[in-house]
Amino acid sequence: MEDTLLRYRSEFPILERSNYMISNSLGAMPRAVYDALHAYADIWATRGVRAWEERWWMLALEVGNELGSLMNAPRDSISLHQNVTTCQAVVASCFDFTGSRNKIVYSDMNFPSVMYFWEAQRAYGAQVHMVKTDDGITVPTERLLDAIDERTLIVPISHVIFRSSYINDAKAIIDKAHKVGAHVVLDTFQSLGTVPVDVQSLNADFACGGVLKWLCGGPGVAYLYVRPDLGKKLEPKLTGWFAHEDSFAFATCPIRYADPPLRFMNGTTHIPSIEAARPGIKIISEVGVEKIREKSKRQTARLIAFADRQGWRINTPRNHDERGGTVSIDMPDSQQVSRELLARDILVDWRPKAGVRFSPHFYNTDAEVDAAMEAVAEILKSRSLTA
Ligand SMILES: Cc1ncc(COP(=O)(O)O)c(C=O)c1O
Repeated sequence: MEDTLLRYRSEFPILERSNYMISNSLGAMPRAVYDALHAYADIWATRGVRAWEERWWMLALEVGNELGSLMNAPRDSISLHQNVTTCQAVVASCFDFTGSRNKIVYSDMNFPSVMYFWEAQRAYGAQVHMVKTDDGITVPTERLLDAIDERTLIVPISHVIFRSSYINDAKAIIDKAHKVGAHVVLDTFQSLGTVPVDVQSLNADFACGGVLKWLCGGPGVAYLYVRPDLGKKLEPKLTGWFAHEDSFAFATCPIRYADPPLRFMNGTTHIPSIEAARPGIKIISEVGVEKIREKSKRQTARLIAFADRQGWRINTPRNHDERGGTVSIDMPDSQQVSRELLARDILVDWRPKAGVRFSPHFYNTDAEVDAAMEAVAEILKSRSLTA
């Protein structure tokens, strides 16, 4: 069957010279980013400070809405930030940890930066409860649900686990949190762009993520969705003049909060990164996450089948409904293998307790998937011969 998504390959220059299997880390750069950044330099050079009024001031809101349409978020519910860690900080700053509802429940399979941030909130009174994985691949949902109780304030949780690509049962976690009056911060970094995300049907309180992986948007842009009814009430203490209802009044304190999403922003926005993010978001919207998901299930299954034939350890769920866009394979000498793959322009990464992460995206061919696996087999064969 013809793979119609391959017609987008020519939009990504790096695909001409490498086997790009690393969209879980940094998605390939769309060719249009050259133009976007050139236009950014041009408007700065020719319009100077007027660029703010003519384009830059509203840019974060516009791009927030473009991202929002990928996750079925209502208009004006997404603010942009520099990274996911900052998104956690903005959320945390809306709450108080000195009362009796001060428990934070998370899984040890979360991305470390998110864990470091919440752990550090102990200094402000947070009680932190970490639920440990049993197998290094999945999150024990029942144990996590049991830990979410009447004292729980926030549950920061990854939608798709960065290490194993396991898909958490976000709906069950959000439902349990709501039953006891807690809020969930869903980190969709490893899902948005490859696994469908619908913040409204999940009834998510907060959702965040960055654009540099599956959205091919480059470093420097993260998004924070806040459910509109919450957004109207919350008052982030990590704030600044962009969050004021009349920024250009330059009024003295206290702040009078703007409506969301500006309410959740703080200082001057990161315009060049936002400009660079746009072409990737546009392509992903055009391709459609449902189609990307369908292809991803097929190609990740192909990786697993090859690895199984070789007897390599797979640190990713075999059930495709529980698996995101990555397959983590811990073949013998996996760290060394990943270095040798990189030397052959087969771009992958290696993570402790995961192995080599292979992440085909909509622009990869089946032949590239096979070539990556065949290269691993060949590397292992030649290593065993030299040994
Ligand atoms: C699930 C997840 N969350 C967060 C991050 C990164 O967080 P930050 O944007 O703060 O660097 C990553 C990877 O870089 C990730 O995979």
